[in-house]
Amino acid sequence: MTETVGIDRMGFYTPDMYLEMTDLALARGEDPAKYHVGIGQDKQAVIPPTQDVVTMAANAAAQILTPADKAAIKMVLFGTESGVDNSKATAVYLAHLLDLPADTRAVEIKQACYGATAGLQLAADYVRARPTAKVLVIGADIARYGLHTAGEVTQGGGAVAMLVTAQPRMLALEPVSAYHTADVMDFWRPLGRTEALVDGRYSTNVYLDFFKTVWAAYQAQTQRTIADFAALTFHIPFTKMGLKALRQVLPEATPDQQAHLQAAFEASQLDNRNVGNLYTGSLYLSILSLLRHGHLQAGDRIGCYSYGSGAEGEFYSAIVQPTFRQGFDDERLTALLANRRAVSVAEYEALFTQRLDLSGRDVQLPVGEVSAQYYLAGRQQQQRLYRQRIVD
Ligand code: HMG
Repeated sequence: MTETVGIDRMGFYTPDMYLEMTDLALARGEDPAKYHVGIGQDKQAVIPPTQDVVTMAANAAAQILTPADKAAIKMVLFGTESGVDNSKATAVYLAHLLDLPADTRAVEIKQACYGATAGLQLAADYVRARPTAKVLVIGADIARYGLHTAGEVTQGGGAVAMLVTAQPRMLALEPVSAYHTADVMDFWRPLGRTEALVDGRYSTNVYLDFFKTVWAAYQAQTQRTIADFAALTFHIPFTKMGLKALRQVLPEATPDQQAHLQAAFEASQLDNRNVGNLYTGSLYLSILSLLRHGHLQAGDRIGCYSYGSGAEGEFYSAIVQPTFRQGFDDERLTALLANRRAVSVAEYEALFTQRLDLSGRDVQLPVGEVSAQYYLAGRQQQQRLYRQRIVD
């Protein structure tokens, strides 16, 4: 018998502060409606210097892992384009912070916003071959374009942690998927730069073209049509981008199905609208948002479009499991987002420049007010100082 394999549990972490997009718009001389409606973002996560992708991933993963899970984890696949070292994998730091067994493979996967999807598919294949194994997949990033740039309104950050197992509680991944690669310069970050370079409008066109390509390839492989989907989810660099992709295929649906898909999209973008881009975690926050706020039922098929600039696109599908609500802590996620503190534009600008720089000099970060379980205390002799606070 073929095992059902997929996402058993999901955790999400973003730091405890955010910037209101109205405040950013007014500070940049823009109409707030451009940011809220034209771009489709209300709030943007602000990442303090005491958080990086390793600590955010640890804070997300700690929410979902029991001691029994930890013992069964055979692999950690960490998707990120905001890694902290050119050689050592973020997954190795993470495995240590989470106290995972030493007989674990731990590697980092990079392809812009696509890394976590590569991790998820590799994890699923691994578990199909070894059904007792569990794999921890991470999508964690800090989206940075720079102050006063057109991309500034599409920043954000956070981490999604997913446990991939056989007989998953949340989503069973269907083995068919369609993917596409082309060498495209729409967004990239040369070595030594802390902010991305981007050809913004071009990137939105490539994103849409890739969606068209992989959607057609998936349909050709499966003979499925849009009528087979209860929801379509997207990589969401900003919510208007996902809406544009959805609008590309809506005419293929009946008016009734269109209304359902539009309602599902609304649910799938709610949390992203208040966090911003998390690059490789964005599709997975959107899937979580759909499961939290949507009206899905066991057996529903959801479509997932992953896009990573540079570029790689993939469309795959997953089936909602009867126990999907047991796979995430809804109350905790609501509290995480609700209990954040709004920062002023001046405070955001100061925090933006306070992250560890590329000089390599020793730094001690102000950690007195830190509330996160895992955090970065500074750097000494070119090594990041990761710390854990004991929580109940
Ligand atoms: P921009 O030039 O500032 O904005 O950059 P715009 O002039 O194109 O306007 C944006 C929208 O606001 C337009 O709507 C305007 O009409 C509307 P659209 O025509 O697109 O539907 N607008 C208004 N609406 C209401 N009231 C108003 C108003 N004024 C204007 N008063 C851009 C926008 C997205 C290009 C920029 O923010 C950017 O460069 N962002 C970064 C790049 C990006 O996110 N690209 C997405 C696709 S690539 C991708 O997803 C991969 C990525 O996540 C990275 C990775 O893979 O790692 C980025």
